[in-house]
Amino acid sequence: MTTQLLEGKKALITGSRRGIGSGIAQLFAEHGADVGINDVIRDEEADKTIAAVESLGRKASWHQADVGNTEDRNRLLDEFVSEHGRIDILVNNAVASRDMHFTKITEEFWDHLVGHALKGYLFLAQGAANRMIEHGHGGNIINISSVHSYRAWPHDTVYGVVKAGLNRMVQSMAHDLAGTGITANCVAPGYIDSRVLPSAEEASRANAEYLGSALGFIPSRRGGVPRDIAGACVFLASELGEYVNGQTITVDGGFLAGGVPPDSQPLEPGMPGAAK
Ligand SMILES: NC(=O)c1ccc[n+]([C@@H]2O[C@H](COP(=O)([O-])OP(=O)(O)OC[C@H]3O[C@@H](n4cnc5c(N)ncnc54)[C@H](O)[C@@H]3O)[C@@H](O)[C@H]2O)c1
Repeated sequence: MTTQLLEGKKALITGSRRGIGSGIAQLFAEHGADVGINDVIRDEEADKTIAAVESLGRKASWHQADVGNTEDRNRLLDEFVSEHGRIDILVNNAVASRDMHFTKITEEFWDHLVGHALKGYLFLAQGAANRMIEHGHGGNIINISSVHSYRAWPHDTVYGVVKAGLNRMVQSMAHDLAGTGITANCVAPGYIDSRVLPSAEEASRANAEYLGSALGFIPSRRGGVPRDIAGACVFLASELGEYVNGQTITVDGGFLAGGVPPDSQPLEPGMPGAAK
């Protein structure tokens, strides 16, 4: 029996029909939280996530909404609070398109990505914070950021700007929410295998084939899985993480920690810890 770190908490997780968001919803439920599942799409994956939460004996509410749309965001928060009575935890996780070469970035691409993954996160966080303040019991706001907030990859200008903005956003939120009992933090995942896989292939999640040469640069010598990110979120939303505020916690198996020298190569096959 897992220690119930979030017993009785009410948590809304955006973009949680699948992937990392689904992993967070399920671990939150294992720890005793009732959860709101949000996504733009309702499909079999959403059904599976809802069923998984309910099978843990917790309430799962469904909220179809686009976090990039003002009316949807307001309805989402209102719906969640009317179903659960209050909101204790918001995890901003939803994201759509990511990559675009710098010379090809259009205003439409910028507006879409910034609109849901930066502006959408800010106004959902604001709406949740105001409802938490009204209720008077504090709460936790967690933005899912990325290692792209610190380090550049090709084609990631807008995604990187959005994620870096989230890290900075929680620093100001911590100041402006001082004294309310609300903490604001980011979790920055590294290489996380969040693909939808047939259950027979679950055991291959985050394997060497998925990671390719990146595996040699990850000190933990494995790819991450949604549960790894969910663990950091449980910590931040629980009493254990109460004094962590305005921070970005990187969860990447050590990928960013090493400061890998530019001339270094991934380990040769056959060396201890090398990709098989
Ligand atoms: N997978 C990784 O390696 C990785 C690494 C770093 C950061 N992240 C971050 O983790 C989070 C989750 O990523 P994932 O890999 O699970 O992605 P995913 O694509 O599997 O899940 C994202 C979900 O968000 C939903 N969504 C998209 N736009 C939405 C909108 N406007 N409103 C509501 N829902 C919307 C999608 O339908 C999808 O179900 C994202 O914030 C992503 O940037 C992922």
